[in-house]
Amino acid sequence: MEMADLRPDFGKYTFNPQLTPEHPDQLFSIWLQNASDTQLSEFNAMVLSTVNSQNKPSSRIVLLKSVENNRLVFYTHYESRKGKDLATNPNASLLFFWKELERQVRIEGLVEKVPYDQSNLYFKSRPLESQLSALASPQSQPIKDIEEIKMRRVAIGQLKQALECPPSWGGYALIPDYYEFWQGGHNRLHRRLSYSLKQNQWVKQQLAP
Ligand SMILES: Cc1cc2nc3c(=O)[nH]c(=O)nc-3n(C[C@H](O)[C@H](O)[C@H](O)COP(=O)(O)O)c2cc1C
Repeated sequence: MEMADLRPDFGKYTFNPQLTPEHPDQLFSIWLQNASDTQLSEFNAMVLSTVNSQNKPSSRIVLLKSVENNRLVFYTHYESRKGKDLATNPNASLLFFWKELERQVRIEGLVEKVPYDQSNLYFKSRPLESQLSALASPQSQPIKDIEEIKMRRVAIGQLKQALECPPSWGGYALIPDYYEFWQGGHNRLHRRLSYSLKQNQWVKQQLAP
């Protein structure tokens, strides 16, 4: 595999940072809609990065499930590695890469748990199979084999009762204080536009590629 000579060019699309809304959530919502309209698979998949108590960062993909009052909501296990990180350090970043649109969006901020009732509502809206897996899998804990989890799923399924969201599972909302929009350009002259929240005002800034 040779990667050193791979140099994709960008610039299929134009983006004028001067013709952008004052609020980043408006631009994010347009770009998210574009990604959805383009029918990109997993357009709501985003890299979530967290930092643990030893300042060690880690990243993984999660799915954006809703945007509510500009807060970005995803669901996971609260006792997973990311959950433990967020319990000690609520700073997190999200990253979207929409390859076909030659776009990247970075979003940073503090994360908080969504109320239990909201998590329970979402949990119950998931297919039964997903509910069972969430209940049976102590996410990020070492296991001997996946059979262990499969057996636990079967045992929970045999209870034949409506499943409730366990307190160890639920949503987080990221409250953004920084956005950065990247549109690929010809000859590496990409367009970058950041929005930083300063004293409750969004400050826009173009950045060198
Ligand atoms: C496309 C894709 C979507 C995913 N969505 C989620 C998700 O919404 N929530 C989640 O907890 N894990 C999701 N995962 C699994 C995570 O990437 C990760 O393996 C898991 O959350 C454990 O991470 P942790 O050990 O860092 O806590 C997804 C993985 C992929 C590849």
